[in-house]
Parts: sequence; C-alpha cells; structure tokens
Amino acid sequence: MNILSALNKSYSILNGKSSSYKLDCEIILSHILKKDNRLELFSNLKYTLNTEEINLFFNKIKERRKLKPVSKIINKKNFWNFNIDVSKNILIPRPETEVLIDMVCSKIKKDSKLHFLDIGCGSGCISLSLLDHFKKSYALAFDISKEAILNSKINIKKYNLNNRIKIIHADLCKFITEKKFDLIISNPPYLKLSEYASLNNTVKFYEPKNALVADNKNGLFFFKKIINNFKTKLKLNGYLAFEIGDYQFKSIQTMLKLNGFIVVQKYKLINDQIRCILAKKIKNYTLQ
Ligand SMILES: C[S@@+](CC[C@H](N)C(=O)[O-])C[C@H]1O[C@@H](n2cnc3c(N)ncnc32)[C@H](O)[C@@H]1O
Repeated sequence: MNILSALNKSYSILNGKSSSYKLDCEIILSHILKKDNRLELFSNLKYTLNTEEINLFFNKIKERRKLKPVSKIINKKNFWNFNIDVSKNILIPRPETEVLIDMVCSKIKKDSKLHFLDIGCGSGCISLSLLDHFKKSYALAFDISKEAILNSKINIKKYNLNNRIKIIHADLCKFITEKKFDLIISNPPYLKLSEYASLNNTVKFYEPKNALVADNKNGLFFFKKIINNFKTKLKLNGYLAFEIGDYQFKSIQTMLKLNGFIVVQKYKLINDQIRCILAKKIKNYTLQ
C-alpha cells in the first residue's frame, strides 16, 4: 500500500467522525513516517509503506475514530514557534495561551532581563515561549503534577533552554520562595465543576481534570490563592499575567484592585469574553 492509497482509505474511515478528517489523517501519517510536515507526503505519494507502518497508521486512525485528539495520538502539538511534546495526562496547549504569551511579549521590552515565575507549567509551553522571546530572561516553573515536571523538562531540553530555568514539583497552595519576580504568569485550572460537566466527552476523557477544574463554586479558587500568596513575590511595577475563564474578569479585577494591582491589558475572544489579562503591581502590601 502506498501513501496515496493509505490516505484515501484513512479518509473514508474518519469521514463523518471528524470535521478535519483529511488533515487529521495527514498529520498522523506524517508523524509515523517522520516527515517534518504533511506536504512532504504529497511529494512522495508513491512511497510504499511497510507492514509496521501500515499497522501503526491504521491503529492510530482507529484511536482518532474514537475521538482521541490528534495531539494525544501523536503526543505533539504546535504551539507558538515550537513543536511541543505532550504526554498522556498533560493538558494540550491551547491557542488562547498563545494569546496570553503574545500579550506579555507585546507589553514588556524584548531585551528585559526578566525573572519570571510560571505557576502550573503543564507541558512547559509558557516558559518555553517566554524564554525564547526574552533571551535574557530566567524562569522558575512548577506544577503539582510530576508528569508535568517531566514533560516540561523534555520540552525545555529539546530547545536547549535548560540553563535559564529551574523546574520543580510543588503545590501552589504551599509553595514558598524567597525570590522576587518581575513577572508571574499562570494559566491555572479555572472551571467550576458544573462547567466541566458540560464539556464534550473528548475533553473529559482525554484531558486531565485537575488541570481544568478549580472548584465547585465559581472557578476562582486558584486566582485567589495566587493573588494572596504571591503578591509579595512580585517586585513593585512587576506584572501578573493570567488566562481566565468566561465571566470571571470582574471578580478577578476586584481581587486585583484590593491587593494593589491595576489591569493594564486584556484580550477578548470571539465569544466576547475576556480570556487573558495583564495586571501591574502598583502598591506594596505586607503579609496579612
Ligand atoms: C490549565 S493547565 C495549564 C498548563 C500549561 N501552563 C498551559 O498553559 O498549557 C493548569 C496546570 O496547573 C496545574 N495545577 C493544578 N493544581 C495545581 C496546584 N495546586 N499547584 C500547582 N500546579 C497545579 C495542573 O497540573 C496543570 O498542569
């Protein structure tokens, strides 16, 4: 079986199951054949697949038919300028988080010698992108998931950024550091339980619940903790960058104001909801 016939057969298996069925098949086959991009398939349509490649390909197509996300099938996701490794129980980096990074990069000077803290680093996508953009920066990143720590270390090593970051296993509710940062950034879990319950089955089945759900009230648990526990860890005039959930902006803005911050930038999504915010610490508060 050559590439052309394998693709045609896979299209017919996924047609009706995925709105991007052709693209899905091409990405999966490119991954199996270790092609840099799927266009390379089309310049080699007559290449004959060996038995191992055929079996592997159609097993993965079966997984996709069961609605497993392509990124979880190939364990890779394109994010910012990177091809990120994403292991089984790690959240697939989302385009909204690229918006968060874009917001920070457009507000802070590129040659700044930033020391930043990445809370709940997951795959390491945020640290990776910021370390790459701010070439003189240093990061401390942590997550409660040991798998996230391993995953982040893999991605950071892949792009040779290990000498500018420390990645540790920690719970943000208990984390203690003597350091002060210029930027604290987080895309914490921000869904309330009822929102999680209404997500589609693909997300519920293949994405880690503890990366998504904050509490059963309003989804604000981690924002409160971060603002309260980390405000003294930010230098005066330092920035706090958050990805936030639908309808959370007003409550978070109030919390920020009460703790010495002002919101200096916000980005909306197409559903008109504010998803990313950047706040500046304008007052020093002592520990209460
Ligand atoms: C929405 S994911 C974000 C992952 C990654 N930063 C990204 O943007 O794709 C939230 C992350 O917070 C981590 N997390 C959840 N509770 C935590 C806690 N108490 N302390 C530290 N990290 C936590 C999860 O393991 C998960 O990796």
